[in-house]
Amino acid sequence: MQINGFSKLSKKEKINWLLQTYFHNETEAKRVLTQYWHNDAKLQALHDGFIENSISNFFLPYGIAPNFKIDNQLYTIPMVIEESSVVAAASKAAKFWLDKGGFKTEILGLTKIGHIHFLYSGSTQELIQFFRRNRPLLLEAIAPLEENMKKRGGGVKDLNLIDRTSKIDNYYQIEFKFETADAMGANFINSVLEEVAEKLKILARHQLTGNLNILMSILSNYTPDCRVKAIVNCPLEALETNEMSGIEYARKFVTAIEVAEKEPYRAVTHNKGIMNGVDAVVLATGNDFRAIEANAHAYASSSGQYTSLSHAKIENGQFYFWLEMPLSVGTIGGIAGLHPLVKFSIQLLQNPSAEKLMKIIASAGLAQNFAAINSLITSGIQKGHMKMHLNNLLNFVNANEKEKQIAYAYFNDKKVSFSALKKLLNRN
Ligand code: MEV
Repeated sequence: MQINGFSKLSKKEKINWLLQTYFHNETEAKRVLTQYWHNDAKLQALHDGFIENSISNFFLPYGIAPNFKIDNQLYTIPMVIEESSVVAAASKAAKFWLDKGGFKTEILGLTKIGHIHFLYSGSTQELIQFFRRNRPLLLEAIAPLEENMKKRGGGVKDLNLIDRTSKIDNYYQIEFKFETADAMGANFINSVLEEVAEKLKILARHQLTGNLNILMSILSNYTPDCRVKAIVNCPLEALETNEMSGIEYARKFVTAIEVAEKEPYRAVTHNKGIMNGVDAVVLATGNDFRAIEANAHAYASSSGQYTSLSHAKIENGQFYFWLEMPLSVGTIGGIAGLHPLVKFSIQLLQNPSAEKLMKIIASAGLAQNFAAINSLITSGIQKGHMKMHLNNLLNFVNANEKEKQIAYAYFNDKKVSFSALKKLLNRN
């Protein structure tokens, strides 16, 4: 049903409209919605303030994975995720690597990119001369915006005119390179771009013979030069299992990675496993998981074929397993200073810089990937998953303690299915 002026309604009016329009049992729907309201009105108002038309809160579990040794420092990592087994897998992998030197990391760049996209109808040569002449003026225009960021070691690092007329008629960009210190930097970058675009418009009007039309000014969430690497390694013998020697295990592992490197169908699932770890920490620290996802997958396809973000090799009796990915995150700005649980996460991680958070997130991604490949090449993925799946199903059918014990015993050596569980517990 269409409604006009919805955003002007009070929270109560919005909910009333919603309940009357879409629900038969309004009382029950209202109960579901309001049971998640926070008792503390101030805290509720804080959460409502994050977005528009907020009517309730949507809970996700906040788990923790201890025993992460990253560059010789121990961390307990916060993970916000709805999927069972992810936190357990991260913890298990962290513990496995703990006495093998842990995770080692390296920042491979901190450069972020933004563009003013515009059309120019005149000659390219004239535009190049114009840009060269006015470059200092453009930089001058953003000096006040940059002042604080510069104090923190960030700011505009470069700007260049790029001719894209081979892609679209009359299309050019001014490409900016930024560093944004401990902030993710989206607000700073977009403010700088818009300010320069305004100045550009004015200068162009007076100095250019053709028409310069600003199309848009926006950061790029693709940051291949803001990148981090996390690696683990150990002697082959340390990988021995009951079923396989260390070398057999390592070879199987490396081949599984090779499959993800060469086969996009597998690469997507493989990288999804990495993102299980990455996104969970990204969410817990109040960062933008959509930007992180878009960035990661663009990077994974940068060769022209979608491929694995992680790699592995055997060399001189050692097993090496590493992840390299772009990550643009912040530990200040955004909701970092507002959301109490985000603040808690940042404190739990010992107040990391953005660089350190990149390293922690990459380690969580690598741990998750290790755990997944380990399961896949040994017991299979369902074994661990099914235990949690059974718990979820038992909760879904409101099983009591006795029924739970019956189900655990019954499914100990059988595949879990909802129909088998319903049959076992006499549910329709
Ligand atoms: C499930 O969320 C993630 C996995 O499918 C990842 C993988 O297959 O590598 C287990």
